[in-house]
Amino acid sequence: MLKRPIIIDTDPGIDDAVALAIALYSEELDVKLITTVVGNVGLDKVTYNALRLLKYFKKEVPVAMGAAAPLIRETEDASDVHGVSGMEGFDFEEPTNDLLLEENAVNAMYRVIKESKEKVTLVPIGPLTNIALLLKVYPEVKENIEEIVLMGGSVTRGNKGVMSEFNIHVDPEAAQIVFDSGVPIVMAGLDVGLKALVLPEDSAKLETMNDVGFMLHSLFKRYRGGSMKTGLKMYDSCAIAYLLKPDMFETVDTYVGVELNGSMTAGATIVDLKGYLKKPNNAKVCLDIDQQMFREWLLDSLSKCN
Ligand code: BDR
Ligand code: CA
Repeated sequence: MLKRPIIIDTDPGIDDAVALAIALYSEELDVKLITTVVGNVGLDKVTYNALRLLKYFKKEVPVAMGAAAPLIRETEDASDVHGVSGMEGFDFEEPTNDLLLEENAVNAMYRVIKESKEKVTLVPIGPLTNIALLLKVYPEVKENIEEIVLMGGSVTRGNKGVMSEFNIHVDPEAAQIVFDSGVPIVMAGLDVGLKALVLPEDSAKLETMNDVGFMLHSLFKRYRGGSMKTGLKMYDSCAIAYLLKPDMFETVDTYVGVELNGSMTAGATIVDLKGYLKKPNNAKVCLDIDQQMFREWLLDSLSKCN
């Protein structure tokens, strides 16, 4: 089977770790490159976390470091959700830097996209700083990008600000550049992320499923994106789920803008379902997810991570 070439731009991040596991072990995806971006914690930490995961998974995918700060704003992190290291809860072996490229994320993405015979799909599951820089510095890459399937935004309310989801809240200017880029975009935001739950019985199964399940279960004990008792939010896995099983989502084609100036709403995604703004559609937005299908898919995918 021809595998779909993708680049994952990430800030691991406990839910990022789950998404990375599923993507890296998938027989349908060819992860060509992992790029890191400041987000859940600082750039050095998220890059170290990506390398720790790759060593644990025994996967040799190159990693390139991207932006250490948002385009304009001060950095805001999510260490309250993921812990000070960004991936608390498991004692990983020390990774080497063998997989770490000297090239920065923007140049590495440019090279991989240009060299690929097939169009490449970008899967950003952190703030959109690197992707915005790529599209501004090398606009010619748009021709060889299949689509951007991102985790971020919300049709309704936020999880970092009243109206803003974390990944967009951290770098709204970057998000606007990406939404305005003309590249086909799929937005898997909080509308599905908050419903993409790992329930207590799923966590229990993971603990004894395999090594990857055991490691993720250990991280889950320290994850504050929900709770072990009420369900853990697997935001970032929604982007991977969309790639592999789009049928579990209800979507709508619409216009998405990003609020940059609102004194209380900066970073909100303005999803114009009713067409008030009279702007052409620029995104496919995931409105709903089949929760049962997601849970089964997640467990089944993680059971194959060995
Ligand atoms: C997003 O914010 C981060 O904390 C998660 O990793 C996810 O990408 C959810 O709002
Ligand atoms: Ca993330």
